[in-house]
Amino acid sequence: MQAMRVPTTRRYLMCPPRFFAVDYVINPWMDPTQPVSADVAVAQWTELRDTYRRLGHTVEEIDPQPGLPDMVFAANSGTVVDGRVLGSRFRAPQRAAEAEHFRRWFVEHGYRDITMPEKINEAEGDFAWTGSLLLAGTGFRTDPAAHAEAQEVLGVPVVSLQLVDPRYYHLDTALFVLAEATDTTRAQIVYYPDAFSAGSRRVLERVFPDAVLATKEDAECFGLNGVSDGRNVVLPVEATRLGEILLARGYEPVYVDISELRKAGGGPKCCTLEIRKG
Ligand code: ARG
Repeated sequence: MQAMRVPTTRRYLMCPPRFFAVDYVINPWMDPTQPVSADVAVAQWTELRDTYRRLGHTVEEIDPQPGLPDMVFAANSGTVVDGRVLGSRFRAPQRAAEAEHFRRWFVEHGYRDITMPEKINEAEGDFAWTGSLLLAGTGFRTDPAAHAEAQEVLGVPVVSLQLVDPRYYHLDTALFVLAEATDTTRAQIVYYPDAFSAGSRRVLERVFPDAVLATKEDAECFGLNGVSDGRNVVLPVEATRLGEILLARGYEPVYVDISELRKAGGGPKCCTLEIRKG
């Protein structure tokens, strides 16, 4: 048994899913013929928000907008490292307008260093900060050229990773950071190897030899869309296999029901934009 890990207090930005719907198909999880309930989505989202608050984190909220049913997935709208904000640019026209609402939120909340990208960039959907490196996914959404743009704007080293399975279309459906570290080799991550190209798997093995390797079963319930504060790991309620493995590594799994949001292809992390003030 590992020693208990130490959490750090986080600041998150979230968007209540009052206008949640599945009206269009931009990933393989979305099926507009299946019934969805905005009320159920709001209830599950509220539980997620309150879970973060109970864990001692700060949650800020942005107002949802009619006609933007995916706006609940705040992680796609900004990458913030050391107080620098890199906004987003969506691939799907249906989501394009979300980026400006978030840009305005950052302006109104006193952020001065805000850059809107030229390249398609779905923010923390495809970017994961390890404390020293920005892991960056591409293949379905974020343009590979956005990786270089993020490196330049944020001033952090970027490691590009190629996603190959359309069900795991964003990096945050296939990988998340369990514990950040300023020393590159000490950060801990968990990922689902089959979501990555052979070359990217070799990169991950080289940089993170101690990573937790997830299975198909973990990935299918959005278990790789977890949110860790360094100790507490918020996971979908179905991800118990992964939860047990994390428990043995000294983490504390905290389960939430996100079944309604999964109908749009999202989970806990997708709903959670982390603000790293620096
Ligand atoms: N329906 C949304 C889309 O396909 C879901 C986004 C989920 N967000 C995430 N960070 N993976 O864009």
